[in-house]
Formats: sequence, structure tokens, C-alpha cells
Amino acid sequence: MELRQVIEQRQSIRSFTNEPVELADIREMVRRAGLAPSIDNSQAWRFIAITNHELLNHMALAVSRSISELPVQDKDDANRSVLSRVEWFATFFRDAPAVIAVAMHQHECPLEKGTEVSHEDYSRMSNYPEIQSAGAAVQNILLTAVELGYGACWLSAPLIAKQELQQQLKLDFPWNLITMVAIGRSFNHPARPSKKSIEEIFEVIS
Ligand SMILES: Cc1cc2nc3c(=O)[nH]c(=O)nc-3n(C[C@H](O)[C@H](O)[C@H](O)COP(=O)(O)O)c2cc1C
Repeated sequence: MELRQVIEQRQSIRSFTNEPVELADIREMVRRAGLAPSIDNSQAWRFIAITNHELLNHMALAVSRSISELPVQDKDDANRSVLSRVEWFATFFRDAPAVIAVAMHQHECPLEKGTEVSHEDYSRMSNYPEIQSAGAAVQNILLTAVELGYGACWLSAPLIAKQELQQQLKLDFPWNLITMVAIGRSFNHPARPSKKSIEEIFEVIS
């Protein structure tokens, strides 16, 4: 499969068959994630594959609990339906054959070493390079999944229960859970979301 085809075929998949994701395939996704660019080539990441359905279910329950604790102005039907939609997008991973959690730890950049800029200030000034690095790794996972015949979906909504998920995944300091990816064989062929045209998103300053 050519890169162009892989990029064009990728779409978020949220419904999976029961077929497991081969461990060798997960390893290949993570190997390629590790080839992604990272701030200062820090590679300050860890990828944890979860294929245990009891654990995935516990994780999803923690997410549901956090969503149910959100302050809601008015629990009318419209709000309830928004919340249940959000809950589904945040918990469907419980039925995924595999989920890869992406964790990062703090990396001290050269600028921090030579100045009195704190890590937090430096991160904010450079627009959270650790999170940007994790994004590059996640895209490699998503594209590799497509090439290997799987579907996948990037997951940030479950992070509403970040503290509990970190405990369940035994991610202690300095590790910080950044995001997750659900992976499996696609159960259906969902409509492809529309994308903006090149004219709408591109400009040249020459
Ligand atoms: C940073 C990020 C976080 C996302 N988090 C979720 C999520 O928690 N749940 C979900 O169902 N989809 C999530 N998505 C998938 C987006 O909804 C999806 O990419 C978007 O609707 C475009 O669809 P496509 O991926 O099929 O092109 C996330 C995507 C990104 C980039």
C-alpha cells in the first residue's frame, strides 16, 4: 500500500469485530510510533497495549463515572442526549480488541538548562512540545493500523478520568497519560467524514 493510499483510507473506526489484534502487529505499530519526531529527540514516551477486556471495562466504567460527575446546568433531555453521546465516544473503547495508551514523561530541553525558565513555562511558550510529539507518534500508529488492515480511533475523551486511568495502568510519576488509541478490524464501513478542500486550508506566502 502506498503512503498516499494509507493516508486517504484512514478514518476513525469505532466499531470492531471480535478478531484480536495480533501482538506482532501491535509491536509494529509501536515500533513505527517510536520512529516519530519528538522534541529534542527525547523519545520520552511509553506505549502500553491493553488487550485485557476486564481492564478495558474497568477503565470505561471510570470514564463513565467521571462523566456522570460533570456539573450540568440543566439535566433536560437535550443535555442528557449530549452527555450520553459524549459518554459513548469516551467509552466505546471497552469493546475494542486492543487499546494503546500513550504516556510521556517530562523532558528537560536545552533552553531550560541554560535559563531560569521552568519546565511548565517552557512548555507553554513552545506550545506543549511533549504533547505535539505524542501526536506525531499516534499518527504513525493510526497509519500503520490502516496498512496492516485494521481500523483505529484516537481517543482523548477518556482522559476525563485521567487520574484513575493512570492508576489502573500503573503509570506512576513521572509518567503522564497523554492519549489512547483503539484498534481492531473494522466491523462496518462508516461514511467517510468530509474534509475541507485544499483551497480552503492552504496559502502560500512567497
Ligand atoms: C486529538 C484527538 C482526539 C480525539 N478523541 C476522540 C475521542 O475521544 N473519541 C472519539 O470517538 N474520537 C476521537 N477523535 C477522533 C475524531 O473525532 C476524528 O478524527 C474526527 O471526527 C475526524 O474523523 P476521521 O478521523 O474519520 O477523519 C479524536 C481525534 C483527535 C485528533
